[in-house]
Amino acid sequence: MIKTVAVIGAGTMGNGIAQVFAQSGFSVRLIDVAQPMLDRARGAIEKSLGKFVEKGTLTPSNRDEVLGRLATATSIDDLADADYVVEAIVEHADTKRALFTSLDAVARPEVILASNTSSISITLLGAATGRPDKVVGMHFMNPVPLMTLVEMIRGQATSAETMAVASKLCADLGKTPVEAADYPGFIANRILMPMINEAIYAAMEGVGTPEAIDTVMKLGMHHPMGPLALADFIGLDVCLAIMTVLHDGLGDPKYRPCPLLRRMVAAGQLGRKSGRGFFEY
Ligand SMILES: NC(=O)c1ccc[n+]([C@@H]2O[C@H](COP(=O)([O-])OP(=O)(O)OC[C@H]3O[C@@H](n4cnc5c(N)ncnc54)[C@H](O)[C@@H]3O)[C@@H](O)[C@H]2O)c1
Repeated sequence: MIKTVAVIGAGTMGNGIAQVFAQSGFSVRLIDVAQPMLDRARGAIEKSLGKFVEKGTLTPSNRDEVLGRLATATSIDDLADADYVVEAIVEHADTKRALFTSLDAVARPEVILASNTSSISITLLGAATGRPDKVVGMHFMNPVPLMTLVEMIRGQATSAETMAVASKLCADLGKTPVEAADYPGFIANRILMPMINEAIYAAMEGVGTPEAIDTVMKLGMHHPMGPLALADFIGLDVCLAIMTVLHDGLGDPKYRPCPLLRRMVAAGQLGRKSGRGFFEY
């Protein structure tokens, strides 16, 4: 029986994942190496729950109960009581592999270790543990409280039982799981990220201003958000990390990260989270 869920990484995604688990009645331990990220995450969760209260879909007392189910910590050492783990740290394979080795040492042997990675091989993460059958991709979409899809990635060694438990958990959260095979970028980012990268090339080459590019895709293609605003929302560092995984993993030059994307990330223009990307926030 899964009652307590540990979420590792309290950035854009970790706070949303922690929120939906707490809203669905689970006790949540949100863990990050940086205390300021934990403080920011709690603030973001309070703000998001406040919007549900304003809309009338959550009562103030429910909100307080949800917040009461959320605990934060800066170390993974007290994971012994976690029944399920979701990793949502930086999109960097070596950092994630090192974390999975540490999680394997502290989590009980039967506990499933899920990763919210956008593109990194689940098989590779599983191989950093002694329980590759219990390592699975659980790719939530941003913003997590509003988006209903969870892309479920089956690694080479992931067991059918692990897939079943993780998929049932998605349903418990009110989300729809869709299975994808373990190839770079899976389904979502294999298709989405090259489009965003191409929009960045179009901006770099002056085919259109960022406003024009986004307007064409919104009004012309009926996308709810333009690709450059979406890149800012995702985080340009995350976009670059995903394009790098696609390029390295698939080998095709068509996945080459746009030089403008590299330059903006090097300059710390990461999108919403840094206050500036293709647009200002
Ligand atoms: N941003 C998106 O729209 C989006 C969507 C789906 C999936 N993802 C994936 O989710 C993951 C997190 O992305 P994000 O956008 O939330 O990143 P982010 O940069 O906002 O946050 C990452 C967090 O991880 C923390 N961290 C780094 N190393 C850590 C460690 N060893 N232990 C604990 N915490 C650590 C950082 O302090 C930071 O708070 C990535 O794998 C990303 O690809 C992102």
